[in-house]
Amino acid sequence: MKKFFISSSILSANFARLGEDIKEILIAGCDFIHFDVMDNHYVSNLTFGPMVLESLRNNNIYAPIDVHLMACPVDDLVLKFAQSGASFITFHPESSDHVDKTLSLIKQCGCKVGIALNPSTPLSILDYIMDKLDIILLMGVNPGFSGQRFIPSMLNKLYRIRTKIDKFFPNILLSVDGGVNANNISDLVCVGVDIFVMGSAIFTSNNYVQFIKNIREKIKL
Ligand code: DX5
Ligand code: ZN
Repeated sequence: MKKFFISSSILSANFARLGEDIKEILIAGCDFIHFDVMDNHYVSNLTFGPMVLESLRNNNIYAPIDVHLMACPVDDLVLKFAQSGASFITFHPESSDHVDKTLSLIKQCGCKVGIALNPSTPLSILDYIMDKLDIILLMGVNPGFSGQRFIPSMLNKLYRIRTKIDKFFPNILLSVDGGVNANNISDLVCVGVDIFVMGSAIFTSNNYVQFIKNIREKIKL
């Protein structure tokens, strides 16, 4: 049976009790922690850096941490996040002068390699890099903020990426990030998504255990 992963974006967590929030969502059944790094330059929002990730690792958080860099330039950050305990590192091609070099750097650091595509980024960017990728993350919204509405045309874009993956590199995982919720998750399963990044939908739910259970039931249908 196909495996699906829920990656919880902590952008919507309560930062005053970040460690506790993360432990609760992991107990509730999230697979990965999605760590949104924003620099107020590549996107107009500012979040957290490698020191925060290191603190989580030093406080008994062992789950895979899925670092999503929305920052420019990226190479120095790749090194710092890898040293701090990142498991996957994903970046936007627009944020690197030499995308191929950044992909190799992530791999050399021992992390899984991801590329993030904005809603308007052409798929042709994938043509010469797919052999180096573990994850392709498609944004369902323009990056910068949680709680935005999923852009409907991204469903077709996801399907087109899935087709490319199946044809050329079937081990790549397809991830969707932004605007994912209980109402659209079934459509996302249908177009072949493997990793569902969810922020506000999880953290605004009253009961994390019930919410994740409900999502897993919808994924299975
Ligand atoms: C947006 C971030 C997302 C976002 C997800 O730029 O990359 O990870 O926080 O949040 P929701 O699920 O609320 O759209
Ligand atoms: Zn993200």
